Amino acid sequence: MEEYWLKIFESDLYINEMLKIWEEGEKWAKWIDEVAKKFGVKGKKVLDVPCGVGRVSYFLSNMGYQVTGVDISDKMIKKAKENVKNGEFIRGDMRKLSEIIKSKFDIVINIFNSLGYYEEEDDLKILRELREVTSLEGIVIINLENRDFVIYNKPEIVHSYVPPYLIIDQNKFDPFTSRLQVIRTYIKDGKEVEKISFSQRYYSLHEIINLMKKAGFKILEVYSGYSWKNFEISDPQMTIVAKPS
Ligand SMILES: C[S@@+](CC[C@H](N)C(=O)[O-])C[C@H]1O[C@@H](n2cnc3c(N)ncnc32)[C@H](O)[C@@H]1O
Repeated sequence: MEEYWLKIFESDLYINEMLKIWEEGEKWAKWIDEVAKKFGVKGKKVLDVPCGVGRVSYFLSNMGYQVTGVDISDKMIKKAKENVKNGEFIRGDMRKLSEIIKSKFDIVINIFNSLGYYEEEDDLKILRELREVTSLEGIVIINLENRDFVIYNKPEIVHSYVPPYLIIDQNKFDPFTSRLQVIRTYIKDGKEVEKISFSQRYYSLHEIINLMKKAGFKILEVYSGYSWKNFEISDPQMTIVAKPS
């Protein structure tokens, strides 16, 4: 399973997709800053894992946060370093985070559906690693797509245009594994240029909360995306704010 994910994360097509949603990083950064104030976080040290191209780190860094980013993809890390001059970016596996990160952070973020790539045990391992690097007075912010929304609302075929590609996703949710199987086709100038397939584990709120509690977190609040609306079952995204228990 790991092999194909790495191929995806290192592909220019995927990086292109991440760069197209760059602007949204500013909304995330402003919201994270407000969350930090609301929950009384004093320090300014942020760990962004996985950081991708640095789209959230960039805006947090501009707001005066001291940002460290970790990502498994060499290419993502290279882009993040180019994009965020004042940040520190390290290539590494979030399943073994504490091997590369030795200090503690005031705010640890895992944004944009960045769990579920591997097995559930791996996600528990990742959450434990996030707990390990969160300072006792700090918070962790996890943002995931909501499984309960996805199973009833994700269309079987989704078209999107990420210039220069037309992307067609064929989605199929497997209720036995709770994984969304995706066959993704990239079309350029009317011709298919690449086809990839992958699957990702999706969580309902109670499932991810159980894993987070097992990993040593206390849940503070759950919001809908980067908003102040309290999460409801019909919301597409859930953003969990927690602290070490
Ligand atoms: C959907 S992107 C989100 C990136 C970033 N959080 C954002 O919002 O732009 C998921 C990222 O997870 C990274 N990733 C996947 N598995 C990883 C692992 N085991 N360790 C570190 N990064 C990983 C990928 O390289 C990719 O950049």
